[in-house]
Amino acid sequence: MKTIREADIKNKRVFVRCDFNCPVDDSGNILDDFRIKKTLPTIEYLIKNDAKAVLASHFGDPEGKFIEKLKLNQVQKKLSEYLKLSVLKAPDCIGEKTKKMVEELQPGEVLLLENLRFHKEEEENDDSFAKELSLLEDLFVNDAFGASHRKHASIIGVPKHIPAFAGFLLKKEVSTLKAILESPERPLVGVFGGVKIETKLPTIKKFIEIADYVLIGGKIAKEIDFKNDNLFVADLTEDGFDINEKSIKEFKEIIGKAKTIVWNGPLGWFEKKESGKGTKEVAIAISESLFAVEKYKLSDKIDFLSTGGGAMLEFLAEETLPGLEVIPD
Ligand code: 3PG
Repeated sequence: MKTIREADIKNKRVFVRCDFNCPVDDSGNILDDFRIKKTLPTIEYLIKNDAKAVLASHFGDPEGKFIEKLKLNQVQKKLSEYLKLSVLKAPDCIGEKTKKMVEELQPGEVLLLENLRFHKEEEENDDSFAKELSLLEDLFVNDAFGASHRKHASIIGVPKHIPAFAGFLLKKEVSTLKAILESPERPLVGVFGGVKIETKLPTIKKFIEIADYVLIGGKIAKEIDFKNDNLFVADLTEDGFDINEKSIKEFKEIIGKAKTIVWNGPLGWFEKKESGKGTKEVAIAISESLFAVEKYKLSDKIDFLSTGGGAMLEFLAEETLPGLEVIPD
């Protein structure tokens, strides 16, 4: 994948697809801005090299309607704070007012567009919408690894109209996950939990092929109806909301042996205090294992937190994503 380093960006308008879709509380306050922080190196690079950065993201699921709570105001605030400059914000992601702001943008300035999913054309991958998004831009940069499994206009449509490059976060995610698939330090252990078996099954099956151990907890443990020598499906507590003591012990022992661990999804209903033990104990076992890795300087591949949920699972199962296919090598 060509990265932004290979692009001539000076004085250019660069459309950067970011994934600022952060978890929020009931009033819409951002609870965790990890994804925003992880995009900063790409934006800082654009600023430093006198590009005009136009940032775009989805936020929540407004289903094509303008929803006050899902505006990107808080993202703008966080970005301004972290970048130590005043990030401008457009009233929409397309339209006359937005166009004017893009036109007036100066080198080194940053403009944040409003929530892409306020337009249903985004999720429909409508080509005239993609064209309008790219109209004033010279280049496209994808730094939205977390959304690159979506065949949406801002992911696969815009790069049909302007040259596409990978941002630093996208590049790092892809190379780290690729290394896990191609040359993991063994034993490789996959830990999967959560509630939606449909989204996890292809990755679990792939890990049964490539990993030394596959550990399953959470609600999906109830739904696994096949066996394999390297597959360990947890027994659940009586109420079914957590893995039981015997499984916690077994999982901790396996994790203790691991050199590479891929973890996706909680092992129990950890938001409920009484059902958080399995997730907590396994998290501690993983962090202890990481500490040992650090101590013995075995690898820096392991200490990595992906910004992608569904995108990470799909990449691990398919070894590519729609959003990566449109970035030339
Ligand atoms: C995510 O949160 O996993 C990404 O931002 C993609 O969001 P989506 O599942 O709403 O498409």
